Amino acid sequence: MSQLFQRKPIAELVQDTEGAGGLKRSLGAGDLIMLAIGAVIGAGIFGAIGTAAAGQVGPNGEVIRLGAGPALVFSFLLLGGACALAGLCYAELAAMIPQAGSAYAYSYATLGELVAWIIGWDLILEYAVGNVAVAISWGDYFNTLIEGVGVHMPDWLHTGYRTALLSSDPAIHGLLASAPHIAGVPILVHVPAFSIVMLITWLLLQGARESATANNIMVVIKLLALTLFVAVGATHLHPANYHPFAPNGFRGIHQGAAIVFFAYIGFDAISTAAEETKNPQRNLPIGILGGLAICTVIYVIVGAVLTGMVPYTQLAVADPLARALQLSGFTKVGGVVALGAVVSMSAVLLVFQYGQPRIFFAMARDGLLPQWAARLSPRTRIPAVTTIITGVFVAVWALVGDAGETYDLTNIGTLFAFMLVSIGVLVLRYKEPERHRPFRVPLVWPVCVLSAGGCVYIMLGLPSAAWMRFGGWLVIGLVLYITYGYTHSRLHRRGRASA
Ligand code: ALA
Repeated sequence: MSQLFQRKPIAELVQDTEGAGGLKRSLGAGDLIMLAIGAVIGAGIFGAIGTAAAGQVGPNGEVIRLGAGPALVFSFLLLGGACALAGLCYAELAAMIPQAGSAYAYSYATLGELVAWIIGWDLILEYAVGNVAVAISWGDYFNTLIEGVGVHMPDWLHTGYRTALLSSDPAIHGLLASAPHIAGVPILVHVPAFSIVMLITWLLLQGARESATANNIMVVIKLLALTLFVAVGATHLHPANYHPFAPNGFRGIHQGAAIVFFAYIGFDAISTAAEETKNPQRNLPIGILGGLAICTVIYVIVGAVLTGMVPYTQLAVADPLARALQLSGFTKVGGVVALGAVVSMSAVLLVFQYGQPRIFFAMARDGLLPQWAARLSPRTRIPAVTTIITGVFVAVWALVGDAGETYDLTNIGTLFAFMLVSIGVLVLRYKEPERHRPFRVPLVWPVCVLSAGGCVYIMLGLPSAAWMRFGGWLVIGLVLYITYGYTHSRLHRRGRASA
């Protein structure tokens, strides 16, 4: 029983990474801000923003979530604040325990094996399921892009089965009947989403990874696409669209925030650069908070322009930024923004698709997953097996899945992990107060408690279906831990050997 709470010594965690050699501390605050923007801006601001503003109704007219309307800007401010608190907590653990596997590794050292397993299991939602959502959004913008040059793909080839099933739009829902059927099953597949994931997987198997230069180029492209949207959209604002400003009151702002939280996911990735950061006490908080502040300002401006261009009720579409431009008569600009979106989201796909196999790798190295998952390809030294498994899992889900459903599942899983990390900081301050901390959360009690509370509060804005799916996901994870991880873990086996 006590093994459930057995913790991996921090010194050992640090040692696990030593094979890679001590990393050079070369990153300054500016580099961290670029990393944060590179990891964060993607499907959330290009895709999920539409549903956050407009809300969502099911095929029978039932309300799935309320929209924030133009008050979406408050959703972004709320999220910026909550993520800043969680970001500080991440920074403390990351600077102290700079190891691959991020939140999974930190929790192994602070909250014990069971919680570590839960977080590792949860991170599959952040990385792999998150990528399903990004891939679907990528495919939707890709479709807008090719339609702009006159190429029309049949609807059943760029609409996932779940999207058709859940849609309140009669044209999309009607695809269930009009699509080709095989043995009575409608064939509704999102081929572009599937294809981009397989392409990225292939690139990763060749040893591709994002470099600092590639990241900087991507950041510039993202910012250019959003600047173009704002500059052109701002010439076409209609004050009438801002009335009512908050059509569903605070509940709309809250429920809108719960889905568009997706737009903030990824800022935690900078904490993984802690080991390479110069003067982490100063630069980590500047990087995390500065990156979050810049993204929040960008999101607020984009949200204000978007909801001023067209009535918010028309934004419940897969490609809201391009659609708003088209509806305002800027079809060509819509195409250019769609191109920027496709490029931006390719970068997010690469980063997440790179991260997931490495989390599996860290868990397998600890014995919580089978050893074959920790095997490296002899030629490229990358975890090829888990890269392929992740690729197939994400691609097949993206083929038939729905973006909204996967945004929700990703958000709930990520927020749960953020909450556990915030608590972990307090636990470790209490248990090991003397340990050297290159970065310390200021006002640790209020910050950590508010951070954990903020995460739970945002989770509460998600639809009940997301909670049920998340519950099911945790149960499957626990069964796997009890039947496999518990007996195979490296700590457990060592404990038995020394008994
Ligand atoms: N924040 C990332 C995105 O919006 C995950 O695509």
